Amino acid sequence: MKKTIRLLALLALGCCTCFFSCDEKQEMTYKDSLLNRTEKEQINFDVDSLKDFIIHQYTKSLKYVGTGNKIPRNSYKDGTIRTVGIESWVSGFYGGSLWYIYELTGDNTWLEPAKHWTEILEPIQHYEGIHDIGFMIYCSYGNGFRLTHNESYLPVLRQTSETLCKRFNPAVGTLLSWGNLADTLTQEYHNTIIDNLMNLELLMFSADKFNAPRFSGIARAHADKTAESHVRPDYSTFHVVEYDKMNGAIVKQKTHQGYEDSSDWARGQTWAIYGYNLMYKYTRESKYLDLACHIADRFIDRLPGDLVPYWDFDDPGIPDTYRDASAGAIASCALFDLSKLIDNADLELKYHNIAIGLLNNLTTKEYLATEEYYKCLLLHSVGHWNQKTEIDTNINYADYYYLEALLKALGIYHESSI
Ligand code: GLY
Repeated sequence: MKKTIRLLALLALGCCTCFFSCDEKQEMTYKDSLLNRTEKEQINFDVDSLKDFIIHQYTKSLKYVGTGNKIPRNSYKDGTIRTVGIESWVSGFYGGSLWYIYELTGDNTWLEPAKHWTEILEPIQHYEGIHDIGFMIYCSYGNGFRLTHNESYLPVLRQTSETLCKRFNPAVGTLLSWGNLADTLTQEYHNTIIDNLMNLELLMFSADKFNAPRFSGIARAHADKTAESHVRPDYSTFHVVEYDKMNGAIVKQKTHQGYEDSSDWARGQTWAIYGYNLMYKYTRESKYLDLACHIADRFIDRLPGDLVPYWDFDDPGIPDTYRDASAGAIASCALFDLSKLIDNADLELKYHNIAIGLLNNLTTKEYLATEEYYKCLLLHSVGHWNQKTEIDTNINYADYYYLEALLKALGIYHESSI
């Protein structure tokens, strides 16, 4: 009963944000109000109720999947969960979310599940199928090491970095994104997607941890080449660039998951902000911070009044098209980080307020999966518009970044001490 009252209170607070968020006709939108504010925006939901909700949802999810090795990806209205194998690019987010819940609650009962859903990924350290092994292993083993300092996780982090670096083509200067390494000879072009910036965190961590400058050299080269070929003059980004394998010349700049080649695919922009933040965090080179700020500024300019981004800022169907809650959650994490990294009071306030605003507007009845049949946190993400898969639904990486944003907003995210 107490839990129900708390959840209702949480949702009532969420409705309050609709003063700004649901009526676009209001003169001042929530975004405007945040950008004009001279003080830091605050969380406007009840944190204890939200924690109860998170625990409830993931307790249901864990009960459903048991201790197997099929990883939850989507939760459906009929009470079932769609699972994927460890080679899916999303396989690290579930274990990662469990580490975040452990960090959020401080409750040791989350340790065993977090370890289990991390350690089933152990074979991925040798997997040569996709570039996403950085996401897969850093979100799971990386968080596990950050929180427990379990030394047995280090060889997996190191070996995954070695495997990832096999995808580096020195003639191009980037890591190959798609395709099995065994097939590179038959691939016509070397492809790199903006998302690949996120894999650099594993390499930068491993470079420091294992005193292996080769890893950071490759990460820097990749970040620099991506800045040249993916980031447009207006600081939006191309999703995919294909290069000549032999000399690195750009063959084509295009999209895969966005509306069209020249459009602003929302999640792509958030991967770029997060990616250049992390490069700055590890290198302290101002060019990375400048890029992160420019891309963030453009992203914020294009956000709607109630902040949660449309899946692609150039979808001509706006406002009658879908939001992407996952992009909102990733942006919230990245903007929290940027607000801490930047040495400029106005920008710090701007990034902090938009980060909190995004989190506030995701923590409403509009976005939280409060119906009892769901076993997840956030609704309304768009996975792959062009393939018509995961449209307007929950996806495990939206939950992962939502939890990360919450930890950062509450100031309880433990920065990794290498
Ligand atoms: N390709 C990863 C994503 O959907 O963002």
